[in-house]
Amino acid sequence: MKGFYRSIYEHNGEKKNMAVTQFEPADARRCFPCWDEPACKATFKITLDVPSELVALSNMPVIEEKVNGPLKTVFFQESPIMSTYLVAVVVGLFDYVEDHTPDGVKVRVYCQVGKVNQGKFALKVAVGTLGLYKDYFAMPYPLPKLDMIAIPDFSSGAMENYGLVTYRETALLYDEQHSAAANKQRVATVVAHELAHQWFGNLVTMEWWTHLWLNEGFATWVSYLATDSLFPEWKIWTQFLDETTDGLRLDGLAESHPIEVEINHAAEIDEIFDAISYEKGASVIRMLQSYLGAECFQKSLASYIKKHAYSNAKTEDLWAALEEGSGEPVTKLMNTWTKQMGYPVVSVKVKDQKLEFEQSQFFSSGCTGNGQWIVPITFCCGSYEKKKSFLLQTKLVTHDVKEISSHSNKSAWIKLNVEQTGFYRVKYDEELAARLRHAIENKYLSATDRFGILDDSFALCMARQLPLTSLITLMAAYREELEYTVLSNLITITYKVGRIAADAKPELMDNINQFFINLFQYSAEKLGWDAKQGESHLDAMLRGEILTALAMLGHKETLNEATRRFDSFLNNRNTPLLPPDIRKAAYVAVMRSVKSSNRAGFESLLRVYRETDLSQEKIRILGSLTSCPDPAIVLEVLKFSLSPEVRSQDAIYGLGVSKEGREVAWIWLKDNWDFIVKNFGGFLIPRFVSAVVSPFASFEKVKEVEEFFASREKASIARTLKQSLERVNINATWVKSIQAEKDFGEAVQELAYRKY
Ligand code: BES
Ligand code: ZN
Repeated sequence: MKGFYRSIYEHNGEKKNMAVTQFEPADARRCFPCWDEPACKATFKITLDVPSELVALSNMPVIEEKVNGPLKTVFFQESPIMSTYLVAVVVGLFDYVEDHTPDGVKVRVYCQVGKVNQGKFALKVAVGTLGLYKDYFAMPYPLPKLDMIAIPDFSSGAMENYGLVTYRETALLYDEQHSAAANKQRVATVVAHELAHQWFGNLVTMEWWTHLWLNEGFATWVSYLATDSLFPEWKIWTQFLDETTDGLRLDGLAESHPIEVEINHAAEIDEIFDAISYEKGASVIRMLQSYLGAECFQKSLASYIKKHAYSNAKTEDLWAALEEGSGEPVTKLMNTWTKQMGYPVVSVKVKDQKLEFEQSQFFSSGCTGNGQWIVPITFCCGSYEKKKSFLLQTKLVTHDVKEISSHSNKSAWIKLNVEQTGFYRVKYDEELAARLRHAIENKYLSATDRFGILDDSFALCMARQLPLTSLITLMAAYREELEYTVLSNLITITYKVGRIAADAKPELMDNINQFFINLFQYSAEKLGWDAKQGESHLDAMLRGEILTALAMLGHKETLNEATRRFDSFLNNRNTPLLPPDIRKAAYVAVMRSVKSSNRAGFESLLRVYRETDLSQEKIRILGSLTSCPDPAIVLEVLKFSLSPEVRSQDAIYGLGVSKEGREVAWIWLKDNWDFIVKNFGGFLIPRFVSAVVSPFASFEKVKEVEEFFASREKASIARTLKQSLERVNINATWVKSIQAEKDFGEAVQELAYRKY
């Protein structure tokens, strides 16, 4: 799936080929001779000879077609000056839907014949987004047309080729009947991301791959701006916290890397399309924007775009523009975030009626480093009415805070990193943490702050700076939580805690699962199984996640109800009993009950997989199959995922195996390693390594994995392998510390049987 390649699709039951290109980062050279580096911009005048019945697309509009019997020659208009990695060509049988922007840019979504209805949503988003960006960047869309096209075989999510954006089907097509709310949101954010690149990336291009984050971090951040404007009810800025968390998780490793990373060889580029370039990149931009203010930020950006249009730029060029526009020391501030890896944890204490702030480098391993940052600190005391802020430029600082010294307010909560716009973690002293827990229970805090407190506590717990007992006590404060993003993170955390506890204290698992079930009871009852009339997008997404969690936890009623609805779905794929938003939950429930001696549910799901032609549905199923507790079935699914029935881009969706399947997945990976290396390109291979290796939690496993890969070194997985092994080490140390915790068993028991 790189260079100039073939993708296969079906038309009237017949297999057909289409021709596609994917050049980023360094594969234009596989197609034509060129100086294949982002700073070597040129104009492109493309001509194609293709079978006359096919559609041929490229970056620019067609100016002439000459048909000559079975072949035709298609001439495209010459492009403006651009980088090689953005050149694109697609040839195949397609239909399209079309619209125009108010200023006359022709926008089309191309799909396989018969699927055009599924292109309409993305078309609407594209037209809306182009208008927004034109205003935001103060610069019109640079080309006469924009085509977007769904490609069945496609290794990333989407690719921003200038004027011809290519997508995986799941990231472009939306089916009213069979797509879930989460699929819809994915389409909107991916479109918004790729269109942002048309300015940020295509018009102004990074000077070298070291500055890849400028492209990806920025496009990620700005896609939220566009999505928020088009779909305010999605509360997408709250959901942005998932991005920040992903960045914080990877960047808490000693094997992380700075945002600006040295690249010496083409083989090193693939691996930096990672959570540091995307999620940390987007998060530090958000932090800076909230520090400088939205208006000043936008104006400075517009002048940056204008200054570097049709050219290239480095990280420091962006800072220079923002510094000029704001008068703030942006370069000095931001260098601490982009040139050194990691981030700080800010510890706050009440001391002599003052607040003390201290920063130190955070590591998930519990080590401390000596990094220092210029941290934009914000905090609120007891109310959101007044937000205080300052730049923490040294290791330690104390602040006189009126609200603390005044007697009336002795027990007021204090929350740092208000709205979680900063890329750092916060550690509160015991007293402050207790006040915050109280504030959560009494619903004084905003959703973003509730999210932050939970996520920081989880990270601190993993780093052994907070006992697991304290973490689960805090989790209990979220029993009446109903906000999508907060609950979704709570679910993720219960999965992780459940897994580590299963290694550390297997005898407590019944109580732990019971506690988690209690935790989701309230929201599960509120949401039910059936959509309420006119309910929100977020409730629709939440229902699916809560029911999936309950199914994973083995909650009897959920399993039974899921089976009932699944049976009805098997009889009628359009049954109102199983709309797309809850299908994953039902599939997981079905697979949790499957075993080698009772395979019926598994066989049925495979049948649904084979019958659907909707990629989102296939992926929903693939992502559910390996949740089976029977290792033999997990192995069978993993084998299936490498078979011709699964497109190679989709194989990775089966890798999130149940905890019972962890060992068998590792054995499978070893057995199939040569095949995987041979058949999977670029950034898919590291995904196999991290998904299979990271869940382990013993020092013996670290050795075993190291031994296996010692003779199989590869530049393209080196970084990921080190990161995965570090995670296993962290887990193993964490297990030991949980085993040494005295009161954990009692706390779990109390929470499992607590009556509300
Ligand atoms: N430029 C990338 C696509 C890409 C990724 C090319 C890796 C080469 C290697 C594109 O803009 C992108 O970021 N796509 C994302 C989706 C986006 C919404 C985060 C992807 O593919 O996951
Ligand atoms: Zn991108």
